[in-house]
Amino acid sequence: MLYTQTISCPIPYSLFTFSVPFTLRFQTATLSTMKEISLTGIKPTGDLHIGNYFGAIKPALELAKTYDARYFIADYHGLNTMKDPAELSSTARHVAAGWLAAGLDPEKVLFYRQSAIPEVFELTVMLTAFTSKGMMNRAHAYKAAVQDNTDKGDDPDAGVNMGLFTYPILMAADIIIFDSDVVPVGKDQVQHIEMAADIVQSVNANYGKPVLKIPRAGVQPDSAVVPGLDGRKMSKSYNNTIPLFAPENTLKKTIMRMLTNSQTVEEPKDPDTCQIFQLYRLFANKEEQAALAAHYRAGGMGWGMAKEELFLAANRLLAPMRERYNAIMADIPALDKILEQGAEKARPIAAATVKRFRKAAGID
Ligand code: ADP
Ligand code: TRP
Repeated sequence: MLYTQTISCPIPYSLFTFSVPFTLRFQTATLSTMKEISLTGIKPTGDLHIGNYFGAIKPALELAKTYDARYFIADYHGLNTMKDPAELSSTARHVAAGWLAAGLDPEKVLFYRQSAIPEVFELTVMLTAFTSKGMMNRAHAYKAAVQDNTDKGDDPDAGVNMGLFTYPILMAADIIIFDSDVVPVGKDQVQHIEMAADIVQSVNANYGKPVLKIPRAGVQPDSAVVPGLDGRKMSKSYNNTIPLFAPENTLKKTIMRMLTNSQTVEEPKDPDTCQIFQLYRLFANKEEQAALAAHYRAGGMGWGMAKEELFLAANRLLAPMRERYNAIMADIPALDKILEQGAEKARPIAAATVKRFRKAAGID
């Protein structure tokens, strides 16, 4: 599909009609393909979990079938919290291997480390000039940190580094630099993509032409929020995750630790309010879901059995992925080469965006 940004123009844009020149511009900027571009990144800040898989990796790989896909390891985002070099380096490879084990084909998807594309950081600096501080004050992660500090009676900015404060700008650069149309993410990331769109609009409004492309979030309704062991959103920060590549016995033990209420085996149970069932739905087909739901409602099924069913369905999907993951991690040089090759292909695209912006800005 050709790029027609005029349709969703906010008020300042009504003065301009730029669908024709922008279309021409993006014909040259998108590697001679007319497909829309899907882009997403994952920070290497810990073990991948099934929330990451269903919320980000799986929908992204689904989109890669029909979109021009660009997926990456957001290692400079990781640096905000990961100060141990060995840990950051090994987690970055873990996440990269995770994508490949989940089915990413580096021949079809541009796959790279953020740190290998220095143009991202040049674009970040340019974008800071178009980003209001007030917008950064409103970013969820920063606001949550300030709230936390205030609740504890600490200085509001205690422990907040500038990387956290400006996080949405770096993320906007990641997205904008590859002319992304859609960004598959979980619901928690939507605000960042809206901010990226706002920043683009400020840039384009300033120059009176569409220098940068406006991205949109792509959230899968079924897996927008995958619940964790305790029923809250599954997240490393809540320590309630089910790791994606844990050995089979660890997977089983983790699932068995899921929090349940004190209903007896005999009591009928409601699948719709149960996080075990919510997770089961992600792994099981429609018939299996209907069968387990009926079992819930009929009574006579204890939580242990529901967890066992969940484990079996999860392991069916995860066992082959785990095997591929282990094989990839056994050859790190080959993994690094895949990422380097991806970066080589990605850099000219990134450089073209920066050049376009610099020219519009009068820095040429
Ligand atoms: P975490 O919350 O564990 O730190 P990240 O913030 O690193 O996870 O998330 C990486 C990607 O996975 C993001 O696109 C995010 O939206 C998605 N994601 C993370 N947890 C979940 C979840 N529980 N449900 C759906 N998507 C999720
Ligand atoms: N902020 C995302 C997260 O916490 C990771 C990320 C960095 C990202 N840059 C991105 C996601 C660009 C999508 C697009 O999960």
